[in-house]
Amino acid sequence: MSLFEKQSCEFIFRHIGPDEHSTKQMLKTIGVPNLDTLISRTVPPAIRMQHELNLPAAMSEHQYLQHIKEISLQNKVYKNYIGQGYYDTIVPSVILRNVFENPGWYTQYTPYQAEISQGRLESLLNFQTMVSDLTALPIANASLLDEATAAAEAMTMFFNTLNKHDHITHPKFFVDNEIFPQTKDVLHTRAKPIGIEIVTGDYKKATIDSTYCGAIVQYPNDKGSIEDYREFINRVHGAGAFVVMATDLLALTLLTPPGELGADCAIGSAQRFGVPLGYGGPHAAFFAAKDDFKRSIPGRIIGVSVDANNNRALRMALQTREQHIKREKATSNICTAQALLANMAAMYAVFHGPNGLKNIAKRVAVLTQTVAEAIEELGFELVSTNFFDTITVKADNISSIKEKAERQQINLRYIDNKYISISVDETTLTEDLYDLINCFEDDKNPVTFDIHHDDEPDHIPQGLSRTSLYLTHPVFNTHRSESKMMRYIKSLENKDLSLNTSMITLGSCTMKLNAASEMIPLSWVHWSKMHPFAPADQTEGYKQIVDDLSKYLCEITALDACSLQPNSGAQGEYAGLLAIRDYHEANNNSHRNVMLIPISAHGTNPASAVMAGMKVVVVKALENGYIDVNDLKAKATEHSANLAGIMITYPSTYGVYEETVKEITDIIHQHGGQVYMDGANMNAQVGLTAPGLIGADVCHLNLHKTFAIPHGGGGPGMGPICVKKHLTPYLPGHVEFKSQNSKNDSNAVSAAPYGSASILLISYAYIRMLGNIGVKNATEYAILNANYMRARLQGQFEILYTNHNGQCAHEFIVDLRPFKKSAEIEAEDIAKRLMDYGFHAPTMSFPVPGTIMIEPTESEDKAELDRFCDALLSIRQEIKDIEEGKMDKKNNALKNAPHTQAMVVTSDWNKPYTREQAAFPMYYVTQNKFWPSVARVNNTYGDRNLICTCEPIESYMEAEA
Ligand SMILES: Cc1ncc(COP(=O)(O)O)c(C=O)c1O
Repeated sequence: MSLFEKQSCEFIFRHIGPDEHSTKQMLKTIGVPNLDTLISRTVPPAIRMQHELNLPAAMSEHQYLQHIKEISLQNKVYKNYIGQGYYDTIVPSVILRNVFENPGWYTQYTPYQAEISQGRLESLLNFQTMVSDLTALPIANASLLDEATAAAEAMTMFFNTLNKHDHITHPKFFVDNEIFPQTKDVLHTRAKPIGIEIVTGDYKKATIDSTYCGAIVQYPNDKGSIEDYREFINRVHGAGAFVVMATDLLALTLLTPPGELGADCAIGSAQRFGVPLGYGGPHAAFFAAKDDFKRSIPGRIIGVSVDANNNRALRMALQTREQHIKREKATSNICTAQALLANMAAMYAVFHGPNGLKNIAKRVAVLTQTVAEAIEELGFELVSTNFFDTITVKADNISSIKEKAERQQINLRYIDNKYISISVDETTLTEDLYDLINCFEDDKNPVTFDIHHDDEPDHIPQGLSRTSLYLTHPVFNTHRSESKMMRYIKSLENKDLSLNTSMITLGSCTMKLNAASEMIPLSWVHWSKMHPFAPADQTEGYKQIVDDLSKYLCEITALDACSLQPNSGAQGEYAGLLAIRDYHEANNNSHRNVMLIPISAHGTNPASAVMAGMKVVVVKALENGYIDVNDLKAKATEHSANLAGIMITYPSTYGVYEETVKEITDIIHQHGGQVYMDGANMNAQVGLTAPGLIGADVCHLNLHKTFAIPHGGGGPGMGPICVKKHLTPYLPGHVEFKSQNSKNDSNAVSAAPYGSASILLISYAYIRMLGNIGVKNATEYAILNANYMRARLQGQFEILYTNHNGQCAHEFIVDLRPFKKSAEIEAEDIAKRLMDYGFHAPTMSFPVPGTIMIEPTESEDKAELDRFCDALLSIRQEIKDIEEGKMDKKNNALKNAPHTQAMVVTSDWNKPYTREQAAFPMYYVTQNKFWPSVARVNNTYGDRNLICTCEPIESYMEAEA
């Protein structure tokens, strides 16, 4: 390799942990001579990719940053007044630098291990409190994917509440005309497969009877008008149905909130609370509801509980992993959501406080009314005189207005050939109004408008002015100075273990390096300030990323077409299953609705299948974890006439490459079914095999696993799907791009055409910096690292499910069930004890209860792998001490784990082991101690005493007393 080639490949060595020397040592431990042998003993030859991936060669980080800067300049940053659910916002620099750009926040995992996640749990509780206060509804969740899917979740929740599975008496859902078009689109997609009938109309004239399960209205509506829905809500309630209001958090600082109007549920996007536009995302949607719905709210809810020492402790309440518990009975498939962005929005509210938010809202409202009045004076008619930030103007001369706007680099929303709407946001300055109003001028007179410092919003209808208080909790009234805010953010970050502390070995979740060079461009204005509905000639930079990334993903999957729309793996599953359903329908096979799903599948698989209107039939597994091919054959034959397909994960969720996979996909095809491959484990495929080679017709890719998008503490994510040619016509379309889909139904699954478009840059960067060789090396090293750990732990722990050569894939399962019998030690005790060693637990009890699943990824070096193995082996010794009666079964370091600082420094230490054993069980821990901030969290207490918002300040005082 020349000096210059070496430079181009430098990122490969930064992304992949083990160097040449340690690779040799690791191979020796495994007992294989070289990496090629390891791979050929692991990946079945019949499915091996025989060619090199046709991807560009690697680029250094320096080269990449120049390259992506050049592409970014193809995007044109205009002043946006498009609105429609997306508004420019000022990300407070203290939040940008300390949260958005901070690996201490963005590399966190979903807070399943509550004791080392108290920081983000507190911030998410702030988010819930903010949403609950502003909507005046008592329970809010910790984010959903976007506004449109949040609306669909509310519709489904109402439908499921009023209808029994096999007896549908309330099939109809009313959608007011004035809902954002992208929300309507997703509602249509989501309604059809489960038999909801959407009725669209004017809420004022709608007749709602007992055949309805619910209705949706928007507040302020699509045209910006503030409508009083009280009478409508009463009418819907009179018919026994429910109302969800799509709404805007900033508007709610000035408007009577949905809860006070009688709504049952409120949804919307928290984007304008300091989260960049990013060409559509990622942004956090919110979802709040009446107490009656607390057990059916989709997504994750953070709740307040206590720890083992009776101190306040937070954790995920109720629905934690609800699809796993309920599988095909789950009411939603939400898994990854938008935690990082919810945290940013919550921090925005913490920083501005209620008065700051109200001032922003008033400024926006006053600027809007100034524009409205000036335009009216020019002779234009407004659709409504009741508005907050959006006005809709009737105009006969749209083309001349548009031409003038474009000349001034202004984007307005051109609704059709008669109406234009304008949405003002917090970035709009008084000076901007000259150019804006000028678009409507005839150029004869200079632009004038009337604005005074003491102007108050006067277009909010009297009866809808907010009188109730909000955000009264101290957390929203304390952090005004930047010093305080910076320290508050840091204090929360310190409570959380993320990838900048130690490796996070989560099987199936693939917590690999999220490199700084992959992340940096996300903050650049040419990416972050792009509106998702900006005209195509302004977004050519994004187009290049979308086109090239789609091409690369097709090459990697050996499939033909790609949709970048789904916002998570589960949304990808749903989109892929809709493609299968529509394909069957187009071939006059709409009766094909049976989906075979192996018992080992992730819970989102059956949940997505049910949402796509399919019937789930479970396929058994053999003792060795392989799909039971005989059972599969029998079920495929039994359901042959109605077989829609199969959903498989490859390598399986047990962490093995089944040699039988081709046989399985062939059986399904013989019976006329389609093969869906869950791509969660693509980190074990890239460059070595591919879904297309295995026989898949469609697969999703979790870009937040294999392709380096960080987990953000529970989102964002992206779940694009790749399909074979015959499924291409059924990929998701979008109202903004009608031509993309040949059918009338758009099948849109997200609010924005390319989902959370800005984070596609991360996966693009990953592929470009690793290049064709590096992405394959990454897979090989993921397998090496997993097998090295397996080899080190084998003998002391029982490893479940390896192939006939004794190899695992990129992850492996360790059986902890024997310790229950031998020492009364549960998997949870080991998970909590790992925290004392400075580690996050691996995936717990999935796919097998009582086990842990370890996935080290390629990004960890040998020293870190060794530390983790040493920790587990040391814990094994601690278990031995219990087994041998040297340590008490109930009172030991595992049962009492994790140990907080307060527990260890207490003056009445009375445990049967030393403080050192408790908190510094190995030497390396003394060098870099991470302290869990609470002791073991009591989940049952929290669920019995459900509190999902910040408690009133008095409760803290009582606790102190
Ligand atoms: C095997 C598998 N399938 C599907 C999913 C769902 O993906 P997401 O969380 O992005 O919705 C996961 C998530 O962990 C998974 O591990």
